[in-house]
Amino acid sequence: KIVILDFGSQYTQLIARRVRELNVYCEIHPHNKPPEIDKTVKGVILSGSPFSVRDEKSPKPDLSIYRKKLPLLGVCFGAQYLASSNGGEVLPSSTREYGRANLSFVDNTHPLMKGVSDNSQVWMSHGDTIKKLPENTKIFASTADVEIAGYEFENEDTYAIQFHPEVYHSKDGGTMLKNFIVGVCKCAQDWTPNSFVEETVEGLKEKIGNDKVVLGLSGGVDSTVAAVLLHKAIGKNLYCIFVDNGLLRKNEFESVLKQYEHLGLNVKGVDAKNKFYSALEGEKDPEKKRKAIGKVFIDVFDEESHLIEDVKWLAQGTIYPDVIESVSATGGPSQTIKSHHNVGGLPDYMKLQIVEPLRLLFKDEVRRVGRSMGLNEELLGRHPFPGPGLAIRILGDITAEKVRILQEVDYIFIEGLKKSNLYDEVWQAGAILLPVQSVGVMGDERTYEQAVALRAVESTDGMTADWCHLPYEFLAKTSNEIINKVKGVNRVVYDISSKPPATIEWE
Ligand code: XMP
Repeated sequence: KIVILDFGSQYTQLIARRVRELNVYCEIHPHNKPPEIDKTVKGVILSGSPFSVRDEKSPKPDLSIYRKKLPLLGVCFGAQYLASSNGGEVLPSSTREYGRANLSFVDNTHPLMKGVSDNSQVWMSHGDTIKKLPENTKIFASTADVEIAGYEFENEDTYAIQFHPEVYHSKDGGTMLKNFIVGVCKCAQDWTPNSFVEETVEGLKEKIGNDKVVLGLSGGVDSTVAAVLLHKAIGKNLYCIFVDNGLLRKNEFESVLKQYEHLGLNVKGVDAKNKFYSALEGEKDPEKKRKAIGKVFIDVFDEESHLIEDVKWLAQGTIYPDVIESVSATGGPSQTIKSHHNVGGLPDYMKLQIVEPLRLLFKDEVRRVGRSMGLNEELLGRHPFPGPGLAIRILGDITAEKVRILQEVDYIFIEGLKKSNLYDEVWQAGAILLPVQSVGVMGDERTYEQAVALRAVESTDGMTADWCHLPYEFLAKTSNEIINKVKGVNRVVYDISSKPPATIEWE
């Protein structure tokens, strides 16, 4: 495997994804906890950082545990740190070093630069630049403005690149990373979805033995793939619980339950709609709604798992981005903007051991693993859906009637996207019921009814998002259909805000 030492760059996870695209396993570790090396580690990559190496508080890990023992590649801050900590000099740069640049010199005989074209486009993003190199170093790539774009320490496998090979705008960045990982580090490219499934299933068998495991299914990709993996390992000893919180999409509970049964999972559907509705009664505050839903979920789940005799494990669909210890630029904890309620976080007294078969995977890898186990595309391609469901898309308090109205609107929107082949182009879509009534006219009559908003966004991870430029004809047709078919709604608006500064959900 490859170890990535994280200095807090926004691109660190991208480095990891690029390594894994080469079918090589890698792990991200925070710079202040550099892992010991054992024989599974074949190389180390130092990430970029929001810090400047000139900043007194910037990270200064001791790299002697890796230097000359393993191939090492410093990227951006990593490259500057390798320079400044070895007698070189890093200063604020006088020319702009952001965005596109082209290599003006490439040493194609260099191990990292094999197959990299002359003039290759690279992506820069730094305010500092290396002014003076340490001794015993040699430049292997330059741009017009940045002479020291790539350099190496002679007689050792230590390399440094000031631009970002991991971003897609660095055209030959993938080649350079491959040269390092496969060429220099000699990693075998054998970490594939199939090998992951095989190893994980073996590991789960060994870990769990004949114990019973309980898992909460949500209908989403992660919990489903986790369940199928566990099912492969322990069969009927996996007990799945799927709770109907009354806040799901129209027909979702029944149709998802059927799909689960089809997959051979041992799943119990629990209708707890009324419990959720009573806990939510009159509650208008978004955070309190989330908390109430989280609490009822735990109560219901707890009650159901107590019915399973002798259960020892709780399985969760946690994925890698939730696990990575993040490095925050300020050193303080990052601020909670919304308290996401997800399946999990069960009370201590349940005393179950936790098993998380997907904790090493990114979302797209979860999908690939699901695909390799034969899950259908419809299931794997589903849009993300928040744990508190429609509750955070009904602004203000929740009633069963409001849920019904929103379900109808959402259904028309989502089915429309599917019929127009737009569903897969959208990362997430849904409808929001606004606490607003407005005047309309239907036939000869004046109406005074609800307004709904439609939201469709493009994103890769939900952290940032842009609104989708859906075709006007599609929006026109959808709006018409909603107003004609859904009693109680006489106005449809389309949300054209990006995140940031807005968020994807309205609450
Ligand atoms: P925001 O609204 O924060 O949403 O831009 C980002 C992503 O997170 C989802 N989301 C939630 N998921 N529990 C969840 O499980 C929540 O409370 C929650 N709030 C937002 C949202 O649907 C989007 O995919």
